[in-house]
Amino acid sequence: MEIVRLDCLFCKLMNSLIKTLFYPKLHRILWGALILFSTGVLLAEDSPRERLLLDFGWKFHLGDLGFEENIINAGVNGGPAKAKFNDANWRTVNLPHDWAVELPFDSNANASHGYKPVGPRFATNSIGWYRRSFNVSDADKGKRLWLEFEGVYRNCRVFVNGFKLAHHEGGYNSFRCDITDVANYGGQNTLAVRVDASEFEGWFYEGAGIYRHVWLVKTAPLAIAPDGVFVYSQFKDNVPRGPTQIHFETKLLNAQERPAGAKVNWQVFAPDGKVVAEKAGSETVDSWKEKEIKGTAKVSSPVLWSPESPKLYRLITTVESGGKVVDRQETEFGIRTVAFDVNRGLLLNGKRYAVQGTCNHQDAAGVGIAVPDALQYFRVAKLKDMGCNAIRTSHNEPAEELVEACDHLGMLVMDETRNFASDPQSLANLEQQVRRDRNHPSVFIWSLGNEEPYQRAPVDGVIANTMRRLVHRLDPTRLCTVAMSSWSAGKPDGISLGVDVQGFNYFKQGDMDGFHKSNPNQPCIGTEEASDFYTRGIYAETSTYESAYDEKYNGNGATAQACFQHDYDPGRPWLAGTFIWTGFDYRGETTPFGWPNISSEFGILDTSGFPKDIFYYYQSWWSDKTVLHLMPHWNWPDKTGQDIDVWTFSNCQEVELFLNGRSLGKKSMPRYSHLQWNVKYEPGTLSAKGYRDGKVVAEEKIETTGAPAAVKLTPDRAMIRGDGEDLSIVTVAIADSKGRIVPVASNLVHFAISGPGKIIGVGNGDPICHEPDVYVTQAAAQSLSLDRWLWKKVEDAKDRPEVAEDFKTDATWKTGNVNREGGPLEQGESAVFRKTISLSDEDLGSLAAVLSFGMIDDDGWVYVNGKLVGESHDWQSSPAFDVMKFLHAGDNVIAVVVKNGDGQGGVNKGVTLDFEKKPVTPAWQRSAFNGLAQVIVQADKSAGEIKLTASADGIAPAELVIQAEPRPARSSMP
Ligand code: GAL
Repeated sequence: MEIVRLDCLFCKLMNSLIKTLFYPKLHRILWGALILFSTGVLLAEDSPRERLLLDFGWKFHLGDLGFEENIINAGVNGGPAKAKFNDANWRTVNLPHDWAVELPFDSNANASHGYKPVGPRFATNSIGWYRRSFNVSDADKGKRLWLEFEGVYRNCRVFVNGFKLAHHEGGYNSFRCDITDVANYGGQNTLAVRVDASEFEGWFYEGAGIYRHVWLVKTAPLAIAPDGVFVYSQFKDNVPRGPTQIHFETKLLNAQERPAGAKVNWQVFAPDGKVVAEKAGSETVDSWKEKEIKGTAKVSSPVLWSPESPKLYRLITTVESGGKVVDRQETEFGIRTVAFDVNRGLLLNGKRYAVQGTCNHQDAAGVGIAVPDALQYFRVAKLKDMGCNAIRTSHNEPAEELVEACDHLGMLVMDETRNFASDPQSLANLEQQVRRDRNHPSVFIWSLGNEEPYQRAPVDGVIANTMRRLVHRLDPTRLCTVAMSSWSAGKPDGISLGVDVQGFNYFKQGDMDGFHKSNPNQPCIGTEEASDFYTRGIYAETSTYESAYDEKYNGNGATAQACFQHDYDPGRPWLAGTFIWTGFDYRGETTPFGWPNISSEFGILDTSGFPKDIFYYYQSWWSDKTVLHLMPHWNWPDKTGQDIDVWTFSNCQEVELFLNGRSLGKKSMPRYSHLQWNVKYEPGTLSAKGYRDGKVVAEEKIETTGAPAAVKLTPDRAMIRGDGEDLSIVTVAIADSKGRIVPVASNLVHFAISGPGKIIGVGNGDPICHEPDVYVTQAAAQSLSLDRWLWKKVEDAKDRPEVAEDFKTDATWKTGNVNREGGPLEQGESAVFRKTISLSDEDLGSLAAVLSFGMIDDDGWVYVNGKLVGESHDWQSSPAFDVMKFLHAGDNVIAVVVKNGDGQGGVNKGVTLDFEKKPVTPAWQRSAFNGLAQVIVQADKSAGEIKLTASADGIAPAELVIQAEPRPARSSMP
């Protein structure tokens, strides 16, 4: 992670503060910043590096607008790619953005992608354009400038000022493009991004759009190269005892005509903020070359990182040249050891550590793949609460913010690539992924692929080996695996020969014990397991829902209980643990159902992060909390006197069940199992007591509730940062008159919001719900087509009196058609064109008024009511002018003086006046699913009270106040 230093001392403190406030570990980092300050580090000369968030204020258009890239000449790309394109009518969006989640569900669309009409066969919905302008100051001349895209789905072309700067296909990799050569210094720059999601890369919901952050980065010509800092620690014999050796590797880039001497200083700050190691190195970097400078230093009593104690160190790398600081970058890292032992599985910090993992796709309810940073933290925290200690980023490079959340909250990461391939582009993508993520202590292993079709063939062994070789060159500290769904129990074959750690998908798909026996030198890990189906709050199988009991699974999967009994069998200590498919439900893969199901049912939590009953099974055996959970709910008015299958998930030794106070018996809990009773239903209270060593250690009850009486709103955080990014994730519950959640309620809830915040998404975890997750604020616009202009030839184009508002035309003026390709003027001729339009007060109440010309051929001076609003000197451009401040109610005169060079000149290809109206705020709503729904509220960039109200027919409404604190936003481009 790169953290930007700002320009002055105050800014630096603020910057630390911003970062402090942005992460949950507030105190530690704040202390770090203060100690940094007191040790004088921040008093060093400023670094020119800036990293500015470019997420806000984009214009978005769905559809390609007939775009054809100009691959013949540089800088002349037309349509939305060109600088002077009129995007006034486009919607305004902030990033991250996923347009697929905004589209309605369509039964003709692809099931595995969640029935969204995007991708193959849906051409009109599959190309989107994003545009944004930004200023670059004259003072930036001589710096290196580049754009960083953290993730765009997919096949995206980036244009700056009409020049194409990148064509990046992969939908999951971060990529950069250097804009130094084409930037307009001291003026406006136009960034246009064409995103083409018409092909799939995976077999799950993949979304569409610029769905991760975008940054503008500025550095001095001699600077740390992108992803150019690598820091890792090594203990003697990889045993975390005594001092550790910190290795620093800094890649410098000298983007200038002369060689430059560079001194690199490395300073390591411990979690308590104290400087614990320092080192420096010097080199000369040749002109336009890169050079890596390495160094080592000792930290004598390191504090170790682990999921249970996620202590982070920070490295500050400072580069000096010619006596000046030319770059400074801060990198978080952790000190810990990871090793795989063939007989003991994973050793974390020298001790056996059972992987209690979940595989997860990246999408979430409400937002699709455009997951804001705070939601990454929310999701990681949910998994942690369950006792999950590892995430497999199936099946793609994760968002860096997910990995950061794992560093900070304490969660291991199996960092997976999307493409198992050794072609140059795939290897380049892999290199980028490893360089980006190798400083993160949470990443403990790389996964190079999943269930590859030729996994048992020699060719895949060779490919795996090529990928592994690259990873080991870039990262000597971690091993590689591939998730395999077939393997040899005898002589190893295929991918098994090309990886360090054997990954098993599903114990029933092969003989793990046989593999271990035949390969006594290869460590093993469960990469995928279970694939169980559950629907939250559903207790009988239907044609669209699987029940929440732990009974059904996909293909060769198994129940959670069978998986635990196999993979955590004390007789298999050599297996490093396992990853369950999946932590959260995700869109797509509606197995075993088709339409109308739109999301999977594999999750332990639903798409909103509401736990299903099975969550408590995992919590029982994975966490050290005392757990006692009862299922199903106790609202069965039609089943009085009938048997109900009651289950408990618990880690108590014994559980006693009671119905309306009567004991139904005590049972002993077998390890990795559950307890079950057949109970004749009667309304009331079903309760349980959990015992350890004969003592009651837990009590639980569920009650028959009354009818829905009120909406209840509960935020995950009632105080958020007013920084334009932070979120409050609000649970919407339907409660009875006693405040108990009605577990079968499905009321439609309407939301309204006021104050400095907005709703960005809603959800309820129902795998068949077709209600929108997003209500889009459409740009409201009105376009006037201006035809039938009066025009007259004039001697020359200078100081024309005919442009005045009150100039009276006479019979010598002709009426002209400005919609044609060519105009009436011959070579060297000039003319004045005039058009009078009548505008109302309502028109003038618009947000903007843009006057756009298809073509002014050749030179043109544009006047509104006698005032010059702009000029155009390029007949190939389509000039547009913001004219709002020149307009008034009643008649307005637009006049264009045109001077033709050669050909047929004039005002051609149409003229429009576009009014951008105030967007109409959409009415957000969502039905509860089995009592619950979710609203995601995002703060604006200001402080104050955000008021969320929720109402449903016939029951009491709820109001919630979320405080947006006055916190500085991250450094971002205006
Ligand atoms: C696995 C596959 C996953 C998912 C799962 C569903 O075989 O690796 O991506 O499709 O099946 O059961």
